[in-house]
Amino acid sequence: MSKNVSLEDIVSLAKRRGFVYQGSEVYGGLSGTWDYGPLGVVLKRNIMNLWWKMFVESRDDMYGVDAAILMNQKVWQASGHVDTFSDPLIDCRACNSRYRADHLLKDNVAKVWDFIEDTRKDYLEASKVYMPDAHWEDPDSVISPFISDATELPELLNAKISCPNCGKKDWGELRQFNMMFKTSIGPVADENSISYLRPETAQGIFTNFKNVVDSFYPDLPFGIGQQGKAFRNEISPRDFVFRSREFEQMEIEYFVHPDQWEKSFEMWRKLVWDWCEALGLPKGMVHELEVPENDRAHYSKRTIDFEFDFPIGKEELLGLAYRTDFDLSNIQRVSGKSMEYRPKGGGEAFVPHVIEPSFGLERAIMAVLTAAYTEDEVNDEKRVYLKLPVHLAPVKVAVSPLLKNKPELVEKARGVYSILKKEFGSVMWDDNGNIGKRYRRQDEIGTPYCVVIDFDTLENDTVTVRDRDTTEQTRVAISQLQAILQKER
Ligand code: GAP
Repeated sequence: MSKNVSLEDIVSLAKRRGFVYQGSEVYGGLSGTWDYGPLGVVLKRNIMNLWWKMFVESRDDMYGVDAAILMNQKVWQASGHVDTFSDPLIDCRACNSRYRADHLLKDNVAKVWDFIEDTRKDYLEASKVYMPDAHWEDPDSVISPFISDATELPELLNAKISCPNCGKKDWGELRQFNMMFKTSIGPVADENSISYLRPETAQGIFTNFKNVVDSFYPDLPFGIGQQGKAFRNEISPRDFVFRSREFEQMEIEYFVHPDQWEKSFEMWRKLVWDWCEALGLPKGMVHELEVPENDRAHYSKRTIDFEFDFPIGKEELLGLAYRTDFDLSNIQRVSGKSMEYRPKGGGEAFVPHVIEPSFGLERAIMAVLTAAYTEDEVNDEKRVYLKLPVHLAPVKVAVSPLLKNKPELVEKARGVYSILKKEFGSVMWDDNGNIGKRYRRQDEIGTPYCVVIDFDTLENDTVTVRDRDTTEQTRVAISQLQAILQKER
């Protein structure tokens, strides 16, 4: 179920209204980086707090950590990231433009099909017989054999696909480009000083597994959650915040007995759906994709991608993976320290297996904005509003005096504003322009309620409360205002 909203609609509203700006914009920008403005930072925190409350605070089987971004380089050697965390890179030899090969194919999937029809017809027919469950409708499945084969890809490109920059077909060899940002720690830059900006928060959890076990003696299964920045030197960052070079992850490693992984996988699968609902994402816009073996990350034995109908198409919102004992066993091997868990009631010690729900904050924000973006008509005029769930809205209530040049109205309104500000925090004072303009502005940032102080307020201590979605206004006593808004919170 796709929504009639373009990426341009979302990007321009986000910039205009102070949600998200291009990073380093004043100097011409820095590709793949984004800055959150006054409303964006609140939306972001509301989502992070919701996640923390839902998956850490409210559960007995979860612990939180906040690990350092810079980690010992052995972390990334043991985890396989130094060797395998790469994307396929291809150069146009005519103009030296560089592309992520899978993106190039995905953007030209009809031409990939042409190539298969021209040159691989027998193979295709056989595949349909032997792989009836293959996701032929999914471009990732169609292109992935070419990405994993270094010789086939240039053949396909040179036959069918022109460079988007210069229009020529003169492609170089397929190479793997490691996406980790390498840096150096301390004043002497040598082999020992190498470190990386973490490309996933997960490793900060794995490396603290033993610490948490030793401090808290949790029963299995239990999980550790972490939120924080991750960095990837994406070859072609694009589509607004969807593919950034610096972004925020919210990850859980849920440690289980190896015999129990399927049960916990199913539990997290349901919880992911609860999360999508809490974000206000319509069920019909979220889809599960069982990731085939050759497309899974090197550590995963099963992965479900939860995809969302973004304005750019159906794309990954978050992932749920069964990481086996891959990480803990590698830490044990490389560090020489035991990562075994000893059951409390006795029984043999073992290295736990792991279920990993991995949430990207930027994609959550983009999905929330997409789902909330709504257009309708009010008084024969087009209106744009964000139908955000109340618990996510950056501003919960806007307070206005009907006229800003009437001191008695302003004074009364200031009083109401102070009361609500103390109670709800995210309350905005708004006396700019006429009342119609204020409503439109608040609609566009998703403020669920606008409270207006007018001349009747001076007479009988009542105010109007306007509902963002219905645009209906109701008159309520100031004394009831807190209780009414509290109920909606
Ligand atoms: N620890 C597992 C892991 O990192 P991933 O699928 O590579 O798995 C998890 O990333 C989530 O992080 C993705 O589903 C997505 O929401 C987010 N993510 C990954 N790369 C991103 C990028 N370049 N920009 C924004 N979000 C990204």
